[in-house]
Amino acid sequence: MIITIDGPAGSGKSTAARKLAARLGIPYLDTGAMYRVVTLAALQDGIDLHDEDALTRTAAKAEFDLDCGPTHVRVRLRGRDVTEEIRSMRVNERTRFIAASPGVRRILVEKQRQLGFRLGSMVTEGRDQGSVAFPDADFKFFVDATPKRRAERRLVELLADGEEVTFEQVLANVDERDRTDSDRDVGPLTVPENAVTIETSNLSIAHVLDRLLAELSKAGVKIPLKGPDRSASQTP
Ligand code: DC
Repeated sequence: MIITIDGPAGSGKSTAARKLAARLGIPYLDTGAMYRVVTLAALQDGIDLHDEDALTRTAAKAEFDLDCGPTHVRVRLRGRDVTEEIRSMRVNERTRFIAASPGVRRILVEKQRQLGFRLGSMVTEGRDQGSVAFPDADFKFFVDATPKRRAERRLVELLADGEEVTFEQVLANVDERDRTDSDRDVGPLTVPENAVTIETSNLSIAHVLDRLLAELSKAGVKIPLKGPDRSASQTP
């Protein structure tokens, strides 16, 4: 059973995807982390972020691995833990160049499909999971929220991390990311065909999870009773 969750930055899809996977006891794949770690690899190698061939070669080398557990995703690059580093502003601001590379997308989408095939069941989240990577997924969700609400959520995270930013700056960044995510030629952010949209602006995480579970249940999926997390998984 493949479940895709797509949506813009700050929509709450990552937390929702993780919680859903934990509840169903199946692996969870954070595809944004893949684009982030390839970005970090390119930066470490001093690659020009517009050099399509060099970026594609970096992705093809696949010197990273992801350990996607129910409450965390640990990412290693060339044997070193880079979980925090791939969330830094330095990587944040540059990942859109890597995400726009057709060669990188081809390689990462192929890797995602291989994982899905090998694991059989997973919750996978990103921008193009229901539209490009898994158009035949069993269930597709699109999680959304207003730019203002998404910027508010992001501001809380950044302030907690000690960053000095204003709401206006974060909102501008959200708008910019929406634009680049939606306007790119390959794998743009879009509502996949047959996806159920969940608007999370006024919903807590618990409510988002309830909505996802209700949709799956309506479609006949047996939801395991609440219990200890059983979804710890290795997704290399
Ligand atoms: O979800 P995130 O913020 O960690 O994503 C990081 C970047 O990768 C962001 O610029 C969107 C891009 N991305 C993508 O293009 N396709 C995906 N399937 C996942 C993320």
